[in-house]
Amino acid sequence: MSEASGLIRGLEGVIAAETQLCDLDGVSGRLAYRGYDIADLAREATFEDVAYLLWHGAPPTRAELGRQEAELIAARPIPDALIAAYRLFPKAVDPMRALQAGAAMLGMTDPDTADNSRAANLRKALRLTAQFATAICAHHRIRSGKEPVAPSKDLSHAGNFLYMLTGERPSPVNTKAFDASLTLYAEHELNASTFTTRVIAATLSDMHSAVAGGVAALKGTLHGGAGEAVMRTLMEVGEVARVDVFVDQALAAKRRLMGFGHRVYKAGDPRATILRGMAEQACRQSSQPKWYDIAVRLHEKVNAAKGLIPNVDFYSAPLFYSIGIPVDLFTPVIAAGRIAGWTANLIEQYDDNRLIRPRAEYVGPKRRPWVPLEKR
Ligand code: ACO
Repeated sequence: MSEASGLIRGLEGVIAAETQLCDLDGVSGRLAYRGYDIADLAREATFEDVAYLLWHGAPPTRAELGRQEAELIAARPIPDALIAAYRLFPKAVDPMRALQAGAAMLGMTDPDTADNSRAANLRKALRLTAQFATAICAHHRIRSGKEPVAPSKDLSHAGNFLYMLTGERPSPVNTKAFDASLTLYAEHELNASTFTTRVIAATLSDMHSAVAGGVAALKGTLHGGAGEAVMRTLMEVGEVARVDVFVDQALAAKRRLMGFGHRVYKAGDPRATILRGMAEQACRQSSQPKWYDIAVRLHEKVNAAKGLIPNVDFYSAPLFYSIGIPVDLFTPVIAAGRIAGWTANLIEQYDDNRLIRPRAEYVGPKRRPWVPLEKR
């Protein structure tokens, strides 16, 4: 097959599933979860609201939300075996690798691992969402030579994450910023990691296995790993006055600028617009305006020079940094939000499953006779 006969590199523009979860309009730069605009959700809803919306199709009533919050809190502790395993991991292990292993290990002890029914998958979606936060923070504490912080029984999902990371109860301002970030990352249609989870589930493998695969796909720098790379770029640039020279040199060297460009959004990523405002507020409040200022100049310069737009991972970098997230935890934090969307997609996939099995165009040698070893 050639382009003319159907090859589409990177599956660009291919419609590979129907979904009721995410309405992504790349032309006008609009995004909604189940019909609710992302800006309204980031401003008005909690991550718990959004997870419920994604899993169940409608926003929760007060009673439904209360029930789900209690279930999430009860599901926060992770098995002792996972904590023991994290103590055995090399200290330098990449937190995303630890999370991938964590997702697989959680599948070893989950009571519903092998049950792919809708009811079991809803229970697993909730448990995985609660446990991902605990696993990320426990691994981080252990690799930093500290004891894991036991999950809070009263803080919100976002507040508890920040608490388990530092051992200190977070400020309402940081909790709101983190909560809105989890919402903005929660779901994004058939991005590479969500597609990966669906491919795995479509073989009728289980939710934990699919999620472990999603973590692996998210890790790459062309996907979720871009946020960490953005922060390293901001640090490399160091000050606003150096931005222009940095960009000129980077473009001359044909260097890929992390946090810019998107396969679907061509006019602008609506999440980046929201995150920009949040980053400005957080950087100024934490007396680190420099990271926001460098980011804005970088945005202006790259856009003027190359026409590229910032994606979701661009302004989340200074935001996360200014609220105290270690740089190599940026991608796990994205996973902590995206787990709600991955699991919602998996429920959709299991509900209407068909094996995902595309074809490849063979471009290797023509058929030829096998030559025995002694004649080669
Ligand atoms: N820096 C420099 N040039 C870029 C960038 C960038 N960040 N993004 C795209 N381009 C250029 C390419 O060089 C290419 O130019 P050319 O046609 O002259 O060769 C053109 O724009 C098209 O780029 P592709 O890589 O073909 O676009 P694609 O849709 O495959 O890639 C992607 C999208 C991977 C996001 C790309 O823009 C990129 O690499 N961005 C940087 C990494 C990043 O920020 N990833 C996060 C994405 S959002 C998320 O997953 C959470």
